[in-house]
Amino acid sequence: MTTTLITGANKGLGFETARRLVAAGHTVYVGSRDAERGRRAAARLGARSVQLDVTDDASVAAAVRTVEAGGGLDVLVNNAGIEARGPHNEVAGAADVTADMMREVFETNVFGPVRVTHAFLPLLRRSAAPVVVNVSSGLASLTHVTEPGHPASAYPGVAYPASKTAVNMVTAQYAKAFPEMRINAVEPGFTSTDLNGNTGTQTVQEGADIIVRMARLTPDGPTGTFTDTSGPLPW
Ligand SMILES: NC(=O)c1ccc[n+]([C@@H]2O[C@H](COP(=O)([O-])OP(=O)(O)OC[C@H]3O[C@@H](n4cnc5c(N)ncnc54)[C@H](OP(=O)(O)O)[C@@H]3O)[C@@H](O)[C@H]2O)c1
Repeated sequence: MTTTLITGANKGLGFETARRLVAAGHTVYVGSRDAERGRRAAARLGARSVQLDVTDDASVAAAVRTVEAGGGLDVLVNNAGIEARGPHNEVAGAADVTADMMREVFETNVFGPVRVTHAFLPLLRRSAAPVVVNVSSGLASLTHVTEPGHPASAYPGVAYPASKTAVNMVTAQYAKAFPEMRINAVEPGFTSTDLNGNTGTQTVQEGADIIVRMARLTPDGPTGTFTDTSGPLPW
């Protein structure tokens, strides 16, 4: 039996990924920074819940103890993320972004997955088929963001794409360091969730497809990739 932990799974893409992995037979831990929201989501899904704030060492350490006591971990989905939009759904562009804004976004989107992956490494190393999925973004692609006319090049924000480019580098370095694990970054596509004020053009069912696919990789699957549903994306 495969046991999977998804961070930020109380709603959005994480919740939908949890639903699909439960249906595929995984034992799923719904990670949620708010314990009650996590319990409610897990109850709807037939999953387990664990309080987990990716910015908080003590919370992550407690989550490791819970998951270890529950039998260990095979698949970690680093899904929790923020875009930090303003009151009118706007993102801070180059003229307005501050170091504090960058720090806030990196704390969740970059230091979060590093904190969580580092803490769960001992459990993943005990698995016969360890898998890590880092939920990145198409906006992480330096190639696309700098390609005139590409939809990604029209995005004005600084902190969010920079954080996801960092996630991609973290993914590449971890994948080389742990060849016995499948460690990949994925781009779900522009999906209607609270993250973007529900302006996304895809459903969460469509957005979760690539997360679910990469979470279900077997040991002969790819590692160190950055992909969407159509295949590899340029870094
Ligand atoms: N939607 C898109 O178009 C899109 C496109 C590309 C990539 N992504 C990525 O997909 C992932 C999921 O986003 P989403 O679109 O599903 O957004 P969402 O509906 O806003 O869900 C984000 C989840 O992350 C959780 N979270 C935020 N900060 C956290 C923290 N410090 N600790 C633990 N959990 C935390 C949220 O919990 P609360 O409910 O407590 O806030 C929520 O469960 C993110 O990494 C995002 O960058 C999304």
